[in-house]
Amino acid sequence: MTDVIVIGSGPAGYVAAIRCAQLGLETICIEKESSSDGKEVLGGTCLNVGCIPSKALLDSSHKFYAAKNHYQEHGISVTNLKLDLPKMMERKEGIVNKLTSGIQGLFKLNKVKSIQGTAKVVSANLVEVTNGDNKEIIEGKNIIIASGSRPIEIPSAKWDQNIVDSTGALEFDSVPKKLGVIGAGVIGLELGSVWARLGSEVTVIEAMEDFLFMADKQIARDVLKEFSNQGLNIKLGCNLTDAKSTAKKVNVTYQSSEGEQKDSFDKLIVAVGRRPNSEDIIGSELGIEIDEKGFIKVDDFCQTSVETIWAVGDVVRGPMLAHKGSEEGIMVAERIAGKKAQMEYELVPSVIYTHPEVAWVGKNEQELKEEGIDYKSGSFPFAASGRALAADDAVGFVKVLADKANDTILGVHAFGPAAAEIVQQGVIAMEFGSSAEDLGMTIFSHPTVSEALHEAAMSVNNQAIHIGNKRK
Ligand code: FAD
Ligand code: NAI
Repeated sequence: MTDVIVIGSGPAGYVAAIRCAQLGLETICIEKESSSDGKEVLGGTCLNVGCIPSKALLDSSHKFYAAKNHYQEHGISVTNLKLDLPKMMERKEGIVNKLTSGIQGLFKLNKVKSIQGTAKVVSANLVEVTNGDNKEIIEGKNIIIASGSRPIEIPSAKWDQNIVDSTGALEFDSVPKKLGVIGAGVIGLELGSVWARLGSEVTVIEAMEDFLFMADKQIARDVLKEFSNQGLNIKLGCNLTDAKSTAKKVNVTYQSSEGEQKDSFDKLIVAVGRRPNSEDIIGSELGIEIDEKGFIKVDDFCQTSVETIWAVGDVVRGPMLAHKGSEEGIMVAERIAGKKAQMEYELVPSVIYTHPEVAWVGKNEQELKEEGIDYKSGSFPFAASGRALAADDAVGFVKVLADKANDTILGVHAFGPAAAEIVQQGVIAMEFGSSAEDLGMTIFSHPTVSEALHEAAMSVNNQAIHIGNKRK
């Protein structure tokens, strides 16, 4: 009997498997995806069709957009600028292949055994693996389910050659002249931006009236304004009622406050959320509950109601983010090895990798108000940052929220250049229970865009140097 069986090799599963092996546990990882030559394809959604390929296209398209629209301001003129989309896609694939084969290397290094096949937990210690006509039963002292999630298909817009999910949107072979996006969430904004930068006329249709309801309202307002300036036509409070493909077009009908609207696109991306892969993965006789949204029920430590069965990543509650899944994987591996690891769910950062980036950690102002927490706020605009101005990247601001009573940082929110990296510094500060004053007393290199965090923290206590402070 092996010590641990991990089902799924995405960022939750492969990280869990490596940590288990590091802790001296004999570990097998089972992955159902395979290449044409029958070998397992490791890395899950994140490496193959998620975080990595989307960021490759975001970075490439940003360079193209900057060369076209911003280089001249720097005294650089570009003639005959041309998009080579196949080359851009080839580069993206190259990065994906490098990283997925990197996981194979890490598995070898750590002596994690990798098996190709579709796994199902059939008892507290047994997993059935199906590969074509072959079935095999593997025995493990512990089982970690990390089967991830998949895009939600809605009845009003069934997938076909023109109506695609995020995976399809990473593979267009030409730039759609008119692109429709259903859902102004993370995928809608990131992939909508990619194609807008490459020349598509992009319309984003969002059901909610509130734009980026999960973000701080002040940030969301500025983001909406900036993205509209960048050419994303974002229509809020619009419900898609029908999308039908013809040979070359998608005809779309949606309901807005002004009544029924019609539009037509060359391609339509549907990005309305993802559903956990929890069907057919656990035998019903085990009695492990799956909630109405498809999440496998686990406790704070990702343990199911069966002591030997754990579940991590997108298949359990919490944000569907790679870093959240990986940390859960590490926590579970350590708990299996007898350690007392735990997750700080309040400190999972969120990032939207548009340009500028949007990022946050902790509570936003509306949450603090709802919870009746007395707080103080300090912010700093990138328009006052020397480094952001030098880089011609001075849109947005950083905001720090702190407890009014004891100055403890409760949230960090940023919209602007390197917002993800800036908020990450806030995560570290919060992890150590820092006050806004502590951050204000920390030395930041000059000139960096991170100085905006420094100044925002100082501004919490009216001590910012490079902007006016509130005077009593
Ligand atoms: P997955 O990565 O989905 O991996 C699950 C694996 O399990 C898959 O390989 C699957 O084939 C395998 N599997 C499923 N069922 C079985 C079975 N029965 N037997 C064997 N194997 C099985 N998150 C971020 O944090 N940052 C980002 O920038 C980001 N960008 C994204 C961009 C896009 C376009 C998308 C779609 C997602 C993005 N995400 C991002 C989300 C991120 O990809 C997921 O949160 C993450 O991949 C979840 O990890 P996981 O290991 O739980 O599941
Ligand atoms: P999402 O939950 O971020 O956004 C979906 C949006 O679609 C919401 O705004 C919702 O109101 C809207 N919507 C739902 N049904 C609709 C309908 N019928 N018509 C119009 N709008 C509708 O989901 P998304 O963008 O699909 O991404 C899935 C998940 O993948 C994210 O929640 C995130 O966890 C992860 N992800 C993370 C990224 C990152 O960390 N940068 C990047 C991409 C994805």
